[in-house]
Amino acid sequence: MSAACNFLVLHTGQKMPLIGLGTWKSDPGQVKEAVKYALSAGYRHIDCAAVYSNEAEIGEAFQECIGPNKGIKREDLFVTSKLWNTKHHPEDVEPALRKTLGDLKLAYLDLYLMHWPHAFERGDNLFPKNPDGIMRYDYTDYKDTWKAMEKLVEKGLVKAIGLSNFNSRQIDDVLSVATVKPAVLQVECHPYLAQNELIAHCQKRGLVVTAYSPLGSPDRAWKHPDEPVLLEEPGIKKLAEKYSKSPAQIILRWQVQRKVVAIPKSVTPARILQNLQVFDFSLTEEEVSHIGSLNKNYRYIVPMITVNGKLVARDAEHPNYPFKDPY
Ligand SMILES: NC(=O)c1ccc[n+]([C@@H]2O[C@H](COP(=O)([O-])OP(=O)(O)OC[C@H]3O[C@@H](n4cnc5c(N)ncnc54)[C@H](OP(=O)(O)O)[C@@H]3O)[C@@H](O)[C@H]2O)c1
Repeated sequence: MSAACNFLVLHTGQKMPLIGLGTWKSDPGQVKEAVKYALSAGYRHIDCAAVYSNEAEIGEAFQECIGPNKGIKREDLFVTSKLWNTKHHPEDVEPALRKTLGDLKLAYLDLYLMHWPHAFERGDNLFPKNPDGIMRYDYTDYKDTWKAMEKLVEKGLVKAIGLSNFNSRQIDDVLSVATVKPAVLQVECHPYLAQNELIAHCQKRGLVVTAYSPLGSPDRAWKHPDEPVLLEEPGIKKLAEKYSKSPAQIILRWQVQRKVVAIPKSVTPARILQNLQVFDFSLTEEEVSHIGSLNKNYRYIVPMITVNGKLVARDAEHPNYPFKDPY
């Protein structure tokens, strides 16, 4: 796979670059420079979300780098954002998207994802909670939210819509009502959570899969001291030595070779650059399956909260919580 084919084609005909820049946990003060550096290094895919609370600063980077006489044409950039859980009510969907467009200083998005299948109480508090720490939920049917997202495509405000953190049953549920079909599923995916069944399920139905936390999300807040450290995996380190690449590059190459988009986050220029340099070598078929055999179905991204002094999975009680099904 050469640099010339470093994208996948969505069912809409859009080209989606196989490597994008993640922006969760990229703080205001850092994220603008990270995005500007990534664009100058050749990235043409940026992954955003309203809940990351940094879209306004990413918009400043876009304003400086994108447009006539600024070096990069808008149509050559692929920008994703996500509808947050507090905005699932059909009346809230378009205003939420317009807020994101205003912050990002864009006229349209290439892809808008429903961030999670479960909803929180409507309003502007991103994490509405009771005094005991338990989330305040909302029970809007995600199919109604989807119908409101379809209108954004009809209005030309987004080119494609998709899902994030939905399981296979929930994807099929959306497909059963969709006039505009989901183009992408974004889920956690890396060698310890290979997602083979879910990827096959999506590919059969024409959805491209994007791997989030492709490096195991080592900078997230609720990191467990005993968790396996993906970038320290001996089998991956061995391949890194063989190819004179970093463990991160081996993992990203594995994803692109199996036609999965990956969106590593970094605010460090040298890492931003190296994460894109995965199109100048190839893993053998045996190496691809060896990395696949490291799967432990291990999830790093299970949002946790403290309730009555105890750390618990935040949304497990919501009927649309996605992670109770096998895949
Ligand atoms: N849809 C969802 O629910 C969802 C959930 C989670 C994530 N996401 C998206 O996916 C993106 C990526 O996931 P993530 O942020 O959780 O984690 P990640 O990309 O797996 O890991 C990011 C961490 O890895 C470090 N890193 C980056 N490149 C590296 C390299 N080449 N070598 C060593 N370390 C490296 C970064 O450090 P520095 O920044 O310090 O360089 C940062 O600490 C997010 O930013 C977000 O856009 C979506």
